[in-house]
Amino acid sequence: MAEGGTRRLKRTIRILSTGAKGGPGKSFLVKNLAGAAAANGYNVAVVDFDTQRTVTKWLQRRTQYCPDAAPITGYEADPHEARDATDVLALDEHDIVFFDTPPAIDQSSEVLKTLSFGVDLVLVPTKVGISDTESAETLLHALSVWKRPTLAVLNLVKPKATRVIGLAKKRLVRHAELCAVEIGEYYDFLAADEVGLGATEMRKCTGGEDIEAVWGAVRRRAGLGEG
Ligand SMILES: Nc1ncnc2c1ncn2[C@@H]1O[C@H](COP(=O)(O)OP(=O)(O)OP(=O)(O)O)[C@@H](O)[C@H]1O
Ligand SMILES: [Mg+2]
Repeated sequence: MAEGGTRRLKRTIRILSTGAKGGPGKSFLVKNLAGAAAANGYNVAVVDFDTQRTVTKWLQRRTQYCPDAAPITGYEADPHEARDATDVLALDEHDIVFFDTPPAIDQSSEVLKTLSFGVDLVLVPTKVGISDTESAETLLHALSVWKRPTLAVLNLVKPKATRVIGLAKKRLVRHAELCAVEIGEYYDFLAADEVGLGATEMRKCTGGEDIEAVWGAVRRRAGLGEG
């Protein structure tokens, strides 16, 4: 397990990435935002609640291929153990802790509820098709009933899909704040993933500016300020 960098914040900020469907980019957001935060000099940790261990494996590649990258501490947790959620929410030695959730987590999950109530911000990435939008709406509605601070982020967006993007935005914004910047689908993101980096940590990464902008929005929304 890598050790995090020097502490910058007085209080730990906790950010959950979750979604109603498989594959909208929950782990993608955790990897890219954790990378951006670590590169900004924060002491960062990621908690992996997905038994696929996507984020944990990314962290292993980071240690293997990019030993000089800013350190990120990794934890693994059990998606069926509410006790694990309580335990990792108590972690307070990091500036920022990101939590990744499994594909099939639903609103009745005790782990999802415990995490949602313990974090400063819930991120809900979603693709723009109608089936994805409908699933995201159900989750966003539950989060809004629970009064949890939530930011929905459109991901894997193809620039030509203007009508579909517009429709998704109109539906989602009824339930949650929508990140003003959507993330496109870029091959370079996969290249960063291969070596355990976030897009903003690569010297040249097409789409890196999307991540930088979303990180700016997340940072502001989570109360991290500008610096
Ligand atoms: N904006 C993007 N551009 C290109 N590839 C992306 C983008 N977002 C995600 N991906 C890729 O799409 C796949 C699914 O993303 P990811 O694993 O983050 O989704 P997930 O919601 O965590 O999935 P799961 O539900 O299985 O946990 C991964 O291979 C990821 O690298
Ligand atoms: Mg995942």
